[in-house]
Amino acid sequence: MLGCSPRQARVVAALLVCAIAHPALATNVFTSYANDFIDPNLLPSQYGSNMKGAQDTVIAWAEEMSSHGPWSVTFKPVVAPSGDKHDYMSWAPYQWPDCSNVGNKTALSKYLMRKQCNYVFRDGQVNPDRTIPNDFQSFYNLSDAVLHNALAWSFQNQSSSTYSQNAVKYIKTWFLDSDTRMNPNLNYAQMNLGPAGQKGEYTGILDLRMLAKVVSGVLLLRKRGSTDWTGDLDAQFVAWCKDYIGWLQSAPTAKQAAASNNNHGTHYVGQLMALMVMVGDNKGATTFGRKYFGTTFKGQIAAGGDQPMEASRSRPFHYRNFNIAGMITAARLLKYADPTSNVWNTTAGSAHGYATIRTTVDFMLSPSSSAARTKESDVAFEVYPNVAAVAAVYGDPQGTYKRFLDQSGFSYTQDAFWVWDQPREAGTRSENAKMAPNSIAGSGSAAAQTTTVVGSGTGVGATAATMVGAIAAIVARWLLMDWT
Ligand SMILES: *[C@@H]1O[C@H](CO)[C@@H](O)[C@H](O)[C@H]1NC(C)=O
Ligand SMILES: *[C@@H]1O[C@H](CO)[C@@H](O)[C@H](O)[C@H]1NC(C)=O
Ligand SMILES: *[C@@H]1O[C@H](CO)[C@@H](O)[C@H](O)[C@H]1NC(C)=O
Ligand SMILES: *[C@@H]1O[C@H](CO)[C@@H](O)[C@H](O)[C@H]1NC(C)=O
Repeated sequence: MLGCSPRQARVVAALLVCAIAHPALATNVFTSYANDFIDPNLLPSQYGSNMKGAQDTVIAWAEEMSSHGPWSVTFKPVVAPSGDKHDYMSWAPYQWPDCSNVGNKTALSKYLMRKQCNYVFRDGQVNPDRTIPNDFQSFYNLSDAVLHNALAWSFQNQSSSTYSQNAVKYIKTWFLDSDTRMNPNLNYAQMNLGPAGQKGEYTGILDLRMLAKVVSGVLLLRKRGSTDWTGDLDAQFVAWCKDYIGWLQSAPTAKQAAASNNNHGTHYVGQLMALMVMVGDNKGATTFGRKYFGTTFKGQIAAGGDQPMEASRSRPFHYRNFNIAGMITAARLLKYADPTSNVWNTTAGSAHGYATIRTTVDFMLSPSSSAARTKESDVAFEVYPNVAAVAAVYGDPQGTYKRFLDQSGFSYTQDAFWVWDQPREAGTRSENAKMAPNSIAGSGSAAAQTTTVVGSGTGVGATAATMVGAIAAIVARWLLMDWT
């Protein structure tokens, strides 16, 4: 399953050649992280030169994603059971046909097979047919494309550029244009095939969690006054989001996702809050955010920071990080919707002790919860944005997070998340300096808080570990389709 396509093989080869020919990689390899929300108010208007690596990575990813776009649910070669090509569809990954229930197989086309044969569950074995309706991959790419193109544009201080035009084109194609728009529902997400299937499952709600990235991109286009993001488009997108909010609050599968105690519940609320923020309903986002942090969240973290419901999964390192990314996204959205919220200090816990989001990231730093321990080194990178986000929010006075990231060998100061995951929101300048050793951070004046960005530029470079990290990121990218 980890076969290299010729193109992917070339990318790996090019990286190795690069590593030999050049002392440092210019940008990090594209990685689609689980989720995030970026408050546009926290992005500086100008970046220090030590941020160039991270910015270059954002730009490279914007361009890489653009080479695949635009995307639309109408482009898939199959249609949902409704017969409406505007309906989103994805198939549950571990289901396989067993046609013993079909008498005469002579005229059994693939189409009839998917309708008539029984499907059986084989845990962990992904049916490659799963990517035939690849709306889920298209949406992941769309959300990364919108976010990184909006960011790349924001670096330029222009009212319009190719990047903002790209971001707007992708949103129009996926959500708005009459020929290609997606109907605002997930009636056929992660659907089972066969006579007992043909309808979506609650697990499919996860497919659109990365709406938080799309909303981050749109808020940035709005705030910085992109002339490509017109009032008319804004109104159309808001209308789409309102329709989909209605679906998310009434469809049985959506309600089931909302009631889930584990990562499904976390990513459900992040998705709903992002949509509410998009339509200007900060009050609604606050209500749902508070409800999540007051109930579901409280049951998700044990004393000491482990997440029992994720730890019991087949890939515990992945699922723990996946849920943490959801918690961070929801917390950032709540803080955006209600700046008075003390969400980062909210504790989960029990008689045995109390934990915050920070505690559960601290748990991930322990060697006993490492990716290698559960044979998940291919997804070791998943923890990095979570660690950087916690350092950014809570500060890093002891240098714990910086030490962990340094020792990982991953060039985090060159990664896209470094643009927004630096100690800025809550940290003091001295904490920033600890996170970023070659800091040129200023004195902590108001101006420095909003415009100065620290970064290390320590040139982690193309060490062997960096190369392994980079290649692992590519491999992980291939695996992404199997996770959820
Ligand atoms: C099976 O289906 C084919 C194609 O429809 C048909 O030609 C054939 O007669 C069928 N055989 C039986 C035994 O029903
Ligand atoms: C999504 O992006 C990845 C990474 O660049 C690429 O391999 C894949 O073909 C893209 N898929 C779609 C549907 O755009
Ligand atoms: C951005 O552009 C405006 C208008 O062209 C200019 O006044 C301003 O100085 C620019 N800002 C930066 C950071 O370059
Ligand atoms: C946690 O609460 C304390 C006391 O109110 C506050 O100073 C601190 O900023 C809060 N931490 C975060 C990360 O919001």
